[in-house]
Amino acid sequence: MQRDQQIFDLIGQELQRQRHGIELIASENFTSLQVMQAMGNVMTNKYAEGYPGRRYYAGCEIVDQSEQLAIDRAKQIFGAAYVNVQPHSGAQANAAVMLAILQPGDKILGLDLSMGGHLTHGSAVNYSGKLYQPHFYGVNKETGLVEYDKMEEIANREKPKLIVCGASAYSRDWDYKRIRQIADQVGAFVLADIAHPAGLIAKGLLNSPFAHCHFVTTTTHKTLRGPRGGMIMMGADFENPFGLKTPKGEIRMMSSLIDTAVFPGIQGGPLEHVIAAKAVSFFEILSDDYTVYANQILKNAQAMAKSFVDKGYQIISGGTDNHLMLIDLRNKNISGKKAEQVLVQADITANKNMVPFDDKSAFITSGIRLGVPAITTRGLKEEHMGQIVDWVDQLLMDADNETLIKGIRGEVNNFMKQFPLYPELG
Ligand SMILES: Cc1ncc(COP(=O)(O)O)c(C=O)c1O
Repeated sequence: MQRDQQIFDLIGQELQRQRHGIELIASENFTSLQVMQAMGNVMTNKYAEGYPGRRYYAGCEIVDQSEQLAIDRAKQIFGAAYVNVQPHSGAQANAAVMLAILQPGDKILGLDLSMGGHLTHGSAVNYSGKLYQPHFYGVNKETGLVEYDKMEEIANREKPKLIVCGASAYSRDWDYKRIRQIADQVGAFVLADIAHPAGLIAKGLLNSPFAHCHFVTTTTHKTLRGPRGGMIMMGADFENPFGLKTPKGEIRMMSSLIDTAVFPGIQGGPLEHVIAAKAVSFFEILSDDYTVYANQILKNAQAMAKSFVDKGYQIISGGTDNHLMLIDLRNKNISGKKAEQVLVQADITANKNMVPFDDKSAFITSGIRLGVPAITTRGLKEEHMGQIVDWVDQLLMDADNETLIKGIRGEVNNFMKQFPLYPELG
């Protein structure tokens, strides 16, 4: 068969883009070569509807083993009692949990998108805000911290069936114990969406939700550094039926409700090649190398936040406990959109983001969100953060200066040569 040169050329160009630039998008990372190799494998040819040992297709003996390995490794990493590795993405993982426990029209309570929450936590443009009735808690205007008292007040008033915690742009840790207490007062379930900080939770560097939350969902491609995908887990509440009844009146176990919500509820055949790659990334997470990596993420994020604060930047909540920070640029007189544009021109990738109580639209925004997981994978250390912040600051302060942008782009490209990315790929 003729080789598709057009697409392979584009893949080559994307490799060069990733190599030359400084990647500060908080939700991105670079997988290892073996994770990518595992993803591009013959298991993509296999249909395996169902779960290990109980499939609707023949010939699943081998993929049963790799899916089971992925499940067992994830259980070991998080101390989880139940794991489903089939969700195609983080959004699918959240959809499956909601399908399992909610009826259309049920109330859910999540962190407002404009305060750092995620689309799947009740946004009006997402299934979660269309199928269910969303209510939102937020962060305090002064401190930038989640307002648990408000969460409690809204929960008591609205009696939601599900409280969702977790975020896409929140740099502080979560009080899962408090959230569970609030949920128990009103008989709600708690879903912790740890898509962003999962890798730090895996290594005990942030609070673990497993003792307090009924369900934990994550993506596998952010701090976890695996292939693009999702996962659903349960800890202490595994096999607690919570009195959930089927239409026939039987009480169903949570694990079986989640399994059926993923397949056949919202998905068909699992992506067994991606599940194999998830297993490889979990193998890596269990290693000491990954422990060093997770600790370095924290050191880099702290160093970067300090450098920004020293230059007069306003980080929401004043700093970070995790891998990311959200910067309010209003005192620097540049919008998030313009900041994103000028950074990209200098091969520094970061994304514009609304800040709490933003007066600009989601297309313009007043902020940028910066994260360190990807540059930490490249090998950058605390001592490099000041240099990056210097470049970002110069660009934002003189965003129309073409000569400056060109000069910094050259310096960035040169600097990143010290941190080879996929040298095996030539
Ligand atoms: C908190 C959170 N949940 C869920 C998702 C959705 O993940 P995916 O893009 O894999 O569907 C994201 C993605 O950014 C996220 O930040």
